[in-house]
Amino acid sequence: MCGISGVVGMKDISNALYEGIRSLEYRGYDSCGVALMNRDKITVKKNVGGVEDFFRKENVLRIKSKVGIAHTRWATHGKVTKNNTHPFQSQDGNFAVVHNGIISNYRDLRTQLSREGFKFDSETDTEVIPHLLDKYFKQTRNVETALIKTLHQLEGTFAMAFISSHNPDQIICAKRESPLMLGIADGCMYLGSDFNAFIDYTKNAIVLDDGEFAIISRDSYIVKNYLTRAEVTKPITKIEWDSESSKKGGYPHYMLKEIYEQPQTVTNSLDIQSELLDEVVDMIYKSDHTYLVGVGTTYYVAQYGQYMISSLAREFLPSLSSDEFVSLSNVTKKSLVLAISQSGETYDTLSALKFAHAQGAQTAAIVNVMGSSISRFVDKVILQGSGPEICVISTKAALSQMIILVQIGLKLALKKKVINKQQMNQAMSTLREFPGIIEAILNERSGFIHRIANAHYKMKHWLYLGRGVYYPIALESALKMKEVAYVHAEGMPGGFLKHGTLAMIDNEINSIVFIPPKEDKKLYEATMHCVEEIRARSGFVLGIHFDERGKNKNLFSEELILPKVSPMIAPLLQLVIAQLFAYFTATSLKRDVDKPRSLAKSVTVG
Ligand code: AGP
Repeated sequence: MCGISGVVGMKDISNALYEGIRSLEYRGYDSCGVALMNRDKITVKKNVGGVEDFFRKENVLRIKSKVGIAHTRWATHGKVTKNNTHPFQSQDGNFAVVHNGIISNYRDLRTQLSREGFKFDSETDTEVIPHLLDKYFKQTRNVETALIKTLHQLEGTFAMAFISSHNPDQIICAKRESPLMLGIADGCMYLGSDFNAFIDYTKNAIVLDDGEFAIISRDSYIVKNYLTRAEVTKPITKIEWDSESSKKGGYPHYMLKEIYEQPQTVTNSLDIQSELLDEVVDMIYKSDHTYLVGVGTTYYVAQYGQYMISSLAREFLPSLSSDEFVSLSNVTKKSLVLAISQSGETYDTLSALKFAHAQGAQTAAIVNVMGSSISRFVDKVILQGSGPEICVISTKAALSQMIILVQIGLKLALKKKVINKQQMNQAMSTLREFPGIIEAILNERSGFIHRIANAHYKMKHWLYLGRGVYYPIALESALKMKEVAYVHAEGMPGGFLKHGTLAMIDNEINSIVFIPPKEDKKLYEATMHCVEEIRARSGFVLGIHFDERGKNKNLFSEELILPKVSPMIAPLLQLVIAQLFAYFTATSLKRDVDKPRSLAKSVTVG
């Protein structure tokens, strides 16, 4: 949540700072602020609203500076107001601080500092930091010592950066749990919550670890441990993503672009090194219990994995929402926790992994963002290689994670001799056909899906129904609708309907039913029963199915017929349709597609 960027260079840095913070806006967009060093004086500008608006209204690009930090906020402590916007300054104006994370003991610190005469202008937890820096600087006359003393006072999580008139050529930053990295270039150094903040300027990064702080100047940097004050030698991470893939490339929204990138990202998932997947399969095979964990979309991805792996490899790997994991699991040192996370920074998922690790369990993860906290924490990481996913709504990352889980299921089935090599090869060729099928569907059906979405965008309630592996698909599809269109959508197993929800069916609720191909006879018939149940009560049903046209005459209120595909990829193809349906509903409702209200892409708070 919240994005931090910083630049220290030889020439004016305001443009690079603007680009840096704008590319982190997916982390939060409630308000924005900058602190720029001008000679030895700090200028702070801040306001509510998005980055672009803020920079324009406050004329930030006109302020000349060689050292600056910026922040884009996702509010946790305190409302979305100008006063609660970062950066925060010390009373004498000599320190300006931006922060991502939560200072859990801020109330005690605030009381203490207020007693000592410090005045607070905001309701935030962050504001204690500049006051502490100020207090300890006055005691020690040394910025680094003031920082160390401040950090010792802070409980909770932080990625923080500050500039100070006492050391006007530097940015100083520190990290505990929330992500922070440096970008290293010639004559210019960058700081960011992730690579996107500086990928246009340098591909060389240093990922800070918990317990480290860094002092960066235009041509040097030093990283130290803040407990020991010892210098730490950090490896340079080469960023493999190219900056072009972070751009919209002619699409009206990142969400649409990322949906259309799926043929490529699925291919990338299929190209993941086979030996790496084997190693994870081996870990599953040797463990007593493997738990699949994720949260939000990735929890539904985990649920999908649970169904697929159980049917392919006859192995039950329970899926749990990361935030519930600590309460529900029975983890031992013979357990394995396989986490799924696009950002690799999600607090709940990282906490689940840390909990598992503390019990002596093995950990592994499927992650999109290289260098992220989860990717570095686990014993084994599968980097999915989907490229930057900018839209807050996950599409291409989720689908690619599902493809990886299918491959894990197949490899486990082979290892357990549930299938033979020939069956494995056949299944892999089916998966290899999937990118082409998605491409064709996107090209041929998006107009039709747009039309259906446009005809029904005013409907306020939707039921998303599926059975078996189509149930997590229904859940994930409903989440897309909720988060991008702000329309109430409830995902449910088809069989649940008659146990209560059927009472809701009237003309104020529409249903979408994910129908399997007919070859999946039992599941097909059971799913068709729910269609009948709703239609018998004159409810509206949009059926997404693979039957021939006219086969189910008058059964559906609206139907979306897909070409015949293997049952293995059928639910995934339906998910692509549901992503587009949510997208077009959102555009009809004129929603802020890439930055839906109240959300942030990377949820680094618990
Ligand atoms: C996805 O559309 C959501 N915005 C959200 O549920 C997300 O999947 C969840 O916060 C987990 O994020 P992660 O994949 O980065 O861990």
